[in-house]
Amino acid sequence: MADMALDSYSKVQIGVDYYPEHWDESMWETDIKLMKETGVKVVRVAEFAWSRLEPSDGSFDFAWLDRALDLFHAYGIQIVIGTPTATPPRWLTSAHPDVLPVLAGGGVFHPGVRGHRCYNSASLQQYGSRIIEALARRYSGHPAVIGWQTDNEFSMLDCHCDSCNLAFRSWVQKKYGTLEQVNSEWGTVVWSGEYSAWEELTVPYGGSPFQNPSLLLDFQRFQWDAVIAYQKTQTEVLRAICPRHFITHNFHSYPQRLDMHGLAEALDVAAFDYYPNPSPQKQATAPYSGALSLDLTRGIKRRGFWIMEQLSGPPGCWFPMWRTPYPGLIRAYAWQAIARGADTVVHFRWRSAAAGAEQFWHGLIDHSNVPGRRFAEFARLCGEVNALAPLLEGTRVISRAAILYSHEQLAALRIQPQAEGLDYYENIKQYHRALTKLGIGCDVIDWRQPLEGYKLVIVPSLYLHDEEAAQLLESFATGGGTVILTSRSGVKNMNNICVMQPLPGLFSHAAGITVEEYDPVGGEVHSLRSAEDLRYKCSQWCDILRLQGAEPVAWYADDFFAGAPAVTMNRFGAGKVYYIGTQPEENYWLKLLGDAARDTGLTPVPELPDGVQAFTRTGEQGELLFLLNLSRTAQTVGLDKAYRSALSGSLRTGAARLEAYDIEILQAEDGSPQEG
Ligand code: GLA
Ligand code: ZN
Repeated sequence: MADMALDSYSKVQIGVDYYPEHWDESMWETDIKLMKETGVKVVRVAEFAWSRLEPSDGSFDFAWLDRALDLFHAYGIQIVIGTPTATPPRWLTSAHPDVLPVLAGGGVFHPGVRGHRCYNSASLQQYGSRIIEALARRYSGHPAVIGWQTDNEFSMLDCHCDSCNLAFRSWVQKKYGTLEQVNSEWGTVVWSGEYSAWEELTVPYGGSPFQNPSLLLDFQRFQWDAVIAYQKTQTEVLRAICPRHFITHNFHSYPQRLDMHGLAEALDVAAFDYYPNPSPQKQATAPYSGALSLDLTRGIKRRGFWIMEQLSGPPGCWFPMWRTPYPGLIRAYAWQAIARGADTVVHFRWRSAAAGAEQFWHGLIDHSNVPGRRFAEFARLCGEVNALAPLLEGTRVISRAAILYSHEQLAALRIQPQAEGLDYYENIKQYHRALTKLGIGCDVIDWRQPLEGYKLVIVPSLYLHDEEAAQLLESFATGGGTVILTSRSGVKNMNNICVMQPLPGLFSHAAGITVEEYDPVGGEVHSLRSAEDLRYKCSQWCDILRLQGAEPVAWYADDFFAGAPAVTMNRFGAGKVYYIGTQPEENYWLKLLGDAARDTGLTPVPELPDGVQAFTRTGEQGELLFLLNLSRTAQTVGLDKAYRSALSGSLRTGAARLEAYDIEILQAEDGSPQEG
């Protein structure tokens, strides 16, 4: 039977993060009443409140949270509870110091900030499960509670504590069986690194980045598995006791060295903490890196998602404060999140903290407690989202293009940076930005995911590779898909060992080329020539390509490799495989991706003005076209047909003018899909 509470994660609504424990109880009802009047539907609570929920070992105090949740319920506001394990209380860390992570150099990650918990600590697991079980029992039947957030913003700790050391050793044992196998798979013979007894095998003490790269990569994999196993200690308790509630986790700050896809297997819905930088000097990049973060979050579970923390005021404290959000920015970025597939957007935070380290990471309301300009904008957003929720619910983002993202490639390329400026994630930003400018919707999915339904797949550096990866691309191309594969692919096996075959290794067959030689040109600017004899800049890397069935698409135009193919296209089965041997400038990406998209039947729009984005959500009642002006200047976007504004009801034809940070949501008058 479909369950109301479980389905509630796909509602389109606005929420806030609220910390009842930070405020005098006499303020709660006034706050909650204002939330209700403003149109807030959901609130996240308690993710750091361990010391209040369990003031001393084994004695729980839920009375205050009961009173808060009862009040929320009285006002019809729903609740997500964060498990409080990111902030173990002092009584726990002093009695059980194994909770605290140990840094590579041997220093302890002391309590005082947050995140001071080793995922492999037996004490953390035991005490964490105990409080989660108590919370779950207390609130499984509470009428306001709809779901849970596990911990808060998982990230890699590179913990070197004794528990991690032992756990790592057994992880390696389980993976390879014998020490002989470890020695051979990691190539430990180099620099006399061979292990002769299991006790010699440890976490990479000292933290030097120049240790054996196979060890370093497996140490990361071990940690990914540890976070997944740790989260399981939470989700198993929650599933058993609260079967009607959904479970999420709030990912943050991409790129994260985390197996987000693996972590999300235990979750119903993924969430992201979205803090676009509101400073004017970031105006050229923030809307695009933001769009990528949203697409990446949607790709975690390949469905709608939540924003668990959304920008509400000037961020600060971790650095001198950034600019305050320009008028319209808070609303526009919340709509950008919804346009890219967020269903619920929860703003961080209701009111700026009066105490603690984050006093100047501003909330919607300032310390004065007088709601101001930002709050008025938030109230407008709540009104709009509530009015349009019936239209938006059930709609989703459908993309015909995808970028294959891999946390393993990210990690391996961080372990051994290849050339100055060559950064896995920064390069993804470039292609993604070009797609966004062309109005081509794009999913960003895990690199091992099936590719059915896509026409165009961009494959950033598959530096580590295996037969499975080659097969995936070959069968996609055979079936008529277009693959765009970039340099530094097919370099290594999955254990981070270089393979003894011409680059791009197992991808040569599909790409119809081999790399004769390469030049890590780094920050130097080199030159490309297209078939139309146009010049484009390129940098980072130059693969000098030998054609083995592929056609050249662009050539180098300088240095000793002038005239050699730099970009190629191979017809493979019913599809095409492009190989890009260098990192070209944005104009080249716009041309290449625009041509490839048109060729596969996608319809790129004429390049959108800087900062303007167009995204679509599709449902049974047709398509909703979101036009967002994420810039400080008014912009005009040409319209391909007549539309009606879902916001104002007015007819829009010819062109839509958008003021600074204004947005429009359009439905085609004739109900047909728009271009792009
Ligand atoms: C993260 C955390 C929040 C808050 C914000 C602002 O996103 O989850 O608790 O600290 O950062 O720094
Ligand atoms: Zn540890």
